[in-house]
Amino acid sequence: MQFQRVHSLKGELHIPGDKSISHRSIMLGSLAKGTTEVYGFLNGADCISSINCFRRMGIPIEYENGIVKIHGKGLHGLQAPSQTLDVGNSGTTTRLMSGILAAQNFSCRITGDASICKRPMKRIMDPLTLMGAEITSENGNNCAPLLIHGKPLHGISYISPVASAQVKSCILLAGLYAEGETCVTEPYVSRDHTERMLAAFGADIHTEKTTATVRPASGLTAQHIFVPGDISSAAYFIAAGLITPNSCITIQNVGINPTRDGILEIAKKMGGNITLSNLISDTGEPTADITVSTSALKGCVIEGSMIPKLIDEIPILAILACFAEGETIIRDAQELKVKESNRIDVMAENLSAMGADITATEDGMIIRGGKPLHGAVINSHLDHRIAMSFAIAGLNADGTTEITGGECVEISYPSFYQDLKKLI
Ligand code: S3P
Repeated sequence: MQFQRVHSLKGELHIPGDKSISHRSIMLGSLAKGTTEVYGFLNGADCISSINCFRRMGIPIEYENGIVKIHGKGLHGLQAPSQTLDVGNSGTTTRLMSGILAAQNFSCRITGDASICKRPMKRIMDPLTLMGAEITSENGNNCAPLLIHGKPLHGISYISPVASAQVKSCILLAGLYAEGETCVTEPYVSRDHTERMLAAFGADIHTEKTTATVRPASGLTAQHIFVPGDISSAAYFIAAGLITPNSCITIQNVGINPTRDGILEIAKKMGGNITLSNLISDTGEPTADITVSTSALKGCVIEGSMIPKLIDEIPILAILACFAEGETIIRDAQELKVKESNRIDVMAENLSAMGADITATEDGMIIRGGKPLHGAVINSHLDHRIAMSFAIAGLNADGTTEITGGECVEISYPSFYQDLKKLI
């Protein structure tokens, strides 16, 4: 995959559905009674892994003409899978599904690709064990493959050391089956798609500040779900529109849930021309059209409670920072080390190769903007967000930028390169 400088990006785009919401629609649809229909489902490899896992547990799931129909069999309708559940590259499938599996009356094994087998699972094993679950790491390294022997669970009040929606959701989903109330408190609020969708399916769930509480469910009711465009995918075009000369891009129907909109807040703080129109907030997840145009940017500090609101956008924000005047400091983001790749090291390695002034830190990075970027060979480390971020950098660098393993965009945005081309 090769990229050269462009002199303008213009047009309108409809980006694919939200990855987090698409995963949850499969899981809750499988546990509900009746047929859940999902419109705008993300046809990316990660979400297909969720579909395949639930099919393996006896849930009929049709996916035709862009509509997913999940014929849910109720909270106790899953069957023991005859084979290992393969989650591919998907951390969300692994962690959320583990919460459900911990409470079933069967045993199973979960594994995935090389990246997933390095990602930390102790963060879900600990709270699930406190709830009475039997969950072990096959190799004793607190990573997948995971072995789960379903057990009756009881509710807990858990104070999570990390602000992680995957950990929170895992515990809440286990809590649907537990005796008594289950509470999760996080250091900062993470994305709340599970809470919103559980409420829509009829679960007894409420949130107060950074604590979410669920009571055991007697049943969930099938729903029609309209998945908004993924703001994490929109982020590449937001950044591209801001840093590329003579540009104006409108991205339609993007989810702007306040637990996910950090990119908008930070891009505005950096001086970005961003306007929202066509705001819709009467559905389960608020949406808007986002228009961005070429802007003179300045650096800023990104830290604390802002981090979970833009955790997946940090790679592209680091690219943005290279085009901003002054210093951008990203801190409190040590979670980046345990994503699909170590995103602190990988951003520092690849941006340095392009001539940027970047220093990796223990919990983030410091970027001194304004140094022109030049083409280089970029190792994506098969991390979709790294590949997409450097495609945008390559459009604004001298010479040729070559991305190795660039096809990994199929994880969250299979048509990314085609959509980008439409704007050139
Ligand atoms: C996700 C939560 C985040 C995010 C991931 C998707 C989710 O992970 O990085 O891409 O759908 O719940 P963490 O919970 O590990 O922060």
